[in-house]
Amino acid sequence: MTEQDFTPKSYTSKVESGSVKWESPSNIALVKYWGKRESQIPENPSISFTLSNCKTITEVTYTKKEGTDFSFDVIFEGEKNAAFKPKIQTFFERVEGYLPFLRDYHFKIETSNTFPHSSGIASSASGMSALALCLMSIEEQLTKNVIQSESEEFQNFNSDFFNKKASFIARLGSGSACRSIEGELVVWGETKSISDSSDLFGVKFTENVHPNFQNYQDAILLVDKGEKQVSSTVGHKLMYGHSFASKRFEQAHENLAELKEVLTNGNQKRFIEIVESEALTLHAMMMTSIPYFILMKPNTLQIINKIWEFRQSTGSNICFTLDAGANVHVLFPEDEQKKVYEFIKSELVAYCQNGHYICDTVGKGAKKLA
Ligand code: DP6
Repeated sequence: MTEQDFTPKSYTSKVESGSVKWESPSNIALVKYWGKRESQIPENPSISFTLSNCKTITEVTYTKKEGTDFSFDVIFEGEKNAAFKPKIQTFFERVEGYLPFLRDYHFKIETSNTFPHSSGIASSASGMSALALCLMSIEEQLTKNVIQSESEEFQNFNSDFFNKKASFIARLGSGSACRSIEGELVVWGETKSISDSSDLFGVKFTENVHPNFQNYQDAILLVDKGEKQVSSTVGHKLMYGHSFASKRFEQAHENLAELKEVLTNGNQKRFIEIVESEALTLHAMMMTSIPYFILMKPNTLQIINKIWEFRQSTGSNICFTLDAGANVHVLFPEDEQKKVYEFIKSELVAYCQNGHYICDTVGKGAKKLA
């Protein structure tokens, strides 16, 4: 598919007003997206587990209006929020060619997260995907309202198209958001080993996932709940002219190809190696860019060392991954849940800010709410 496939021919809307509501989860990358080109095109492919408890719930109420400016209000956790407006304004500008109704309505965007805003957990993936899904539901209403059910456009507006375009639109809000529409594993970025992969949207990983990797668990240890030291926009730019960039992008293709095999053959040892190496490589890229950053905190390293010790002494298949920050995602198989949570409570909680951590598990993707 190309960008043109996401440009609607026309809809002479007859809908005056309405409202739509979605919940959309966050995701955690196993092979990391780090580096992008113009129009949110990733420099390398990535794959993530879709999460289930960390999510954003967004309701968009739309009312027909006069004039051609964008018009919207953002209400975050019950209160009008001006701080989010510039990001949404930029998003609307980026996607208006694909959603031409955006200037015809006033939008009330009411949104909240199931995780604390100040937890240091990136809400852009869940937030942007939830908003993209709401806009897609509005487009669906406009499309289905004005065209005959037997027409080509109506037929083409099926759930596959809906999910692809929702992911395409979410990507233009935040790259990783395109991996939050579906579950349980999603690949984004064109790569040889995944036949239908695309730079434009995320695709569901459709290989048979080995039972070892089904219902995987993710305990998110909140080491530092402060504002991100480096925004992802700045972070991705650090890959321009980075000495190790081309090698890193190549490595992501290789790691993804191997992870595809591992996810189907159940090889936990290689899973751990690839996932932890990806996390450390992401941080290594930041430490070796100009300007350079250390996003891990002393407690991040304490936790990593404790995880290694625990794995060594118990034979557990626990491992860690990191986002572009200090928090640690502890990943482990479902059948180790009890012993890993005991370990977290007895050994790792001490390194979390105010003892906070979030228990999550792999999920099936976004859901439309009544
Ligand atoms: C380290 O998706 O937040 O979490 O496209 O600029 O919004 P933008 O970046 P974003 O980058 C996420 C980077 C990452 C790795 C990943 O999720 O793949």
